Amino acid sequence: MIYNKNKLTIDGLNVQNLAKKFRTPLYCYSYKKLHENILNIKNNFKKIDPLICFAVKSNTNIKILKEIKKFNLGADVVSIGELMKALKAGIKAQKIVFSGVGKTKNEIEYAINKRILLINAESKSEILEIEKIAKLKKKKINIGIRLNPNTDAKTISQISTGKKENKFGVDEKTFLSLVSYLKKSKNLNLKCLSVHIGSQILNNQPYSKMLKVIDKIIKKSNHTFEYIDLGGGMGIDYLHNNNKFNLKKYSLNIQKFLKKKNSKIIFEPGRSIIGNTAILITKIIYIKKGYKKDFIILDSAMNDLIRPALYNAEHKIIPLKKNKTKTNKPYEFVGPICESTDKFATIRKFQKLNEKDFIAICDVGAYGMSLSSNYNVRPKPLEIMIKGSKIQIINKRQKLSELM
Ligand code: LLP
Repeated sequence: MIYNKNKLTIDGLNVQNLAKKFRTPLYCYSYKKLHENILNIKNNFKKIDPLICFAVKSNTNIKILKEIKKFNLGADVVSIGELMKALKAGIKAQKIVFSGVGKTKNEIEYAINKRILLINAESKSEILEIEKIAKLKKKKINIGIRLNPNTDAKTISQISTGKKENKFGVDEKTFLSLVSYLKKSKNLNLKCLSVHIGSQILNNQPYSKMLKVIDKIIKKSNHTFEYIDLGGGMGIDYLHNNNKFNLKKYSLNIQKFLKKKNSKIIFEPGRSIIGNTAILITKIIYIKKGYKKDFIILDSAMNDLIRPALYNAEHKIIPLKKNKTKTNKPYEFVGPICESTDKFATIRKFQKLNEKDFIAICDVGAYGMSLSSNYNVRPKPLEIMIKGSKIQIINKRQKLSELM
């Protein structure tokens, strides 16, 4: 995304023209960025040769999943719906891992029937349930156990998952007793240790700690894990201030960790693959003078992008046409929904905006559309992807008639 003569462009196309042609709110993805992100991760982890399983929850668009599949990535899924979609996109079952604390009998059976690579179990009850199903089917099923390493990911508390107070995984003691239990199981084959400590992690330190904890537990367990699934969580530069997660450093740490181990690494990245590939283009309906700030009332709302309302997450907001004016009051960018949390950002200094202008909300590719809803009976936005010189509609705008 760059400005050309003060006009925002994405892969050479004028964004304002796209907004006028396709109307707003509009999710616009760049295939070029997606390609770049995947190559970047692949290159940085080349020495490790991991299996990269895209976290489908971050973006469930089937056209995007199909593009991701072409790079030979696998998938990390957390529901039967995501599993079905990953398979429909052509992702090989032998490259799919299934995470989540509440897999139902139906979901486990489906996963077993499709012969996916691993079911990563998160509790003793779940392991017993998988074992029961496997016994009935007279099969030996490959599973992983998700460890809760009690490591602080130092990220937004709502998206932290690796501390002992979180519902995810099992603690060290339970982990070790489950390993002993599984050594004797006739129907389960313990192949993997999995972890995922949180999301939007920008610093390497939590990962280093996590690797130390895993290392210690593997030694104590006296078990050879064919796979070590390190989850996702690698953060992106939402504030555009070059605060990037250092993939090289993480890769070196993992290489050290892997010495004397014969395990294959699995990653489950979502955000770092799809996060910065998209913008949400929205139009200003009204500008309303407020007491200490002015409200920029947009045609997009928390139903299209809930991250700011849900986690106080910050997304950069930029104009489609730059000028040199400056406001004297802060702008609060809000949607039309009847909730005070329906707000994208408050910005102290912005260029002067007018009604009917367009703006773009940046880095919405991950957990944007996948967390969208029909709250207030608002149809979901259109999604397009720029690929080379082509503009592809990758998801139609929902019609009001579909919501009646
Ligand atoms: N693996 C597991 C087991 C996960 O729970 C997650 C994310 C991932 C992988 C992918 O993490 P990523 O690489 O995308 O950070 N809705 C929140 C994020 C929730 C993340 C949930 N789990 C947000 O918008 O920030």
